[in-house]
Amino acid sequence: MNFFLETLMVLLMSIWYTLEALVYTFIPRRKKNISGEVVLITGAGSGIGRLMAQEFASHGTVLVLWDINQDGMKETAKLVKECGARKVHYYLCDCSDRNEVYRVAEQVKREVGDVSILVNNAGIVTGKKFMDAPDSLIEKTMEINTMAHFWTYKAFLPAMIANNHGHLVSIASSAGLVGVTGLADYCASKFGAVGFAESIGLEMLATGKDGIKTTLVCPFFINTGMFDGCQTKWPTIMPILKPEYAAKKILHAVLTDQTYLLMPKSMYFIVGLKNILPTKMGILLGWYMGAFNFMDKFIGRNQKQK
Ligand SMILES: *[C@@H]1O[C@H](CO)[C@@H](O)[C@H](O)[C@H]1NC(C)=O
Repeated sequence: MNFFLETLMVLLMSIWYTLEALVYTFIPRRKKNISGEVVLITGAGSGIGRLMAQEFASHGTVLVLWDINQDGMKETAKLVKECGARKVHYYLCDCSDRNEVYRVAEQVKREVGDVSILVNNAGIVTGKKFMDAPDSLIEKTMEINTMAHFWTYKAFLPAMIANNHGHLVSIASSAGLVGVTGLADYCASKFGAVGFAESIGLEMLATGKDGIKTTLVCPFFINTGMFDGCQTKWPTIMPILKPEYAAKKILHAVLTDQTYLLMPKSMYFIVGLKNILPTKMGILLGWYMGAFNFMDKFIGRNQKQK
């Protein structure tokens, strides 16, 4: 292509997109109609997974719930029916096991049909200093927080590609954008999830599958129990998020085809700063924000239940 013409086009389009972004800061974006879509949520038996299921249900979707906790899932199934789900199916699935993911995925395709909205939400956290973290837990963290995403995409993406229709939702973490002491394996797994989701999003665009939308969610700690005991130093700038708030924001992002969702809003600024500040100043600010101590009083969910 002609260098001059291509450059001119990019300049004009840049102006157009900037204006568009500016306009949309003032007027709300149109929400898409997801009524009748088949939504699969991993880790739907508790926490943010359950709340998202309820939000999706209220839009008249068909829900497919996955979890390793049968009782939690049954409870979610009951709740989503009350919220107006068109139908609800639930399956026991250990997302750390590739063969099980493939097996249950086949069962879903047979019994429910093609999944059109895939929400990779299941996650675990070790919460120990790296040298204290058992190898088995480090592996599990990678298997659930990152690799399960590979296998679910492998299972459900082909139908989305064939229809050029679908939505891939990745519940990652702000720990997938910034390293945190005491969360090395978790951060590694979430950085992996972020890189994967972003790359697949680009791959869809580059191959002309623009009907497949992606939403990458990077929240700070959400108060669901998973990170019980963790502290934020300046709750005004970096509040621990309320689960209901987070679930509503995620739904809004999906309905408006928002590609990136960072929460709280200050995360956009913090991530930007991290990439442009001199290193020592970045670390100083990290210390000031409490990043050295987030995990000091970590209790977590499993420990609490014992
Ligand atoms: C949304 O889509 C469903 C089925 O595709 C349709 O029945 C319904 O009327 C639509 N709702 C709106 C508000 O357009």
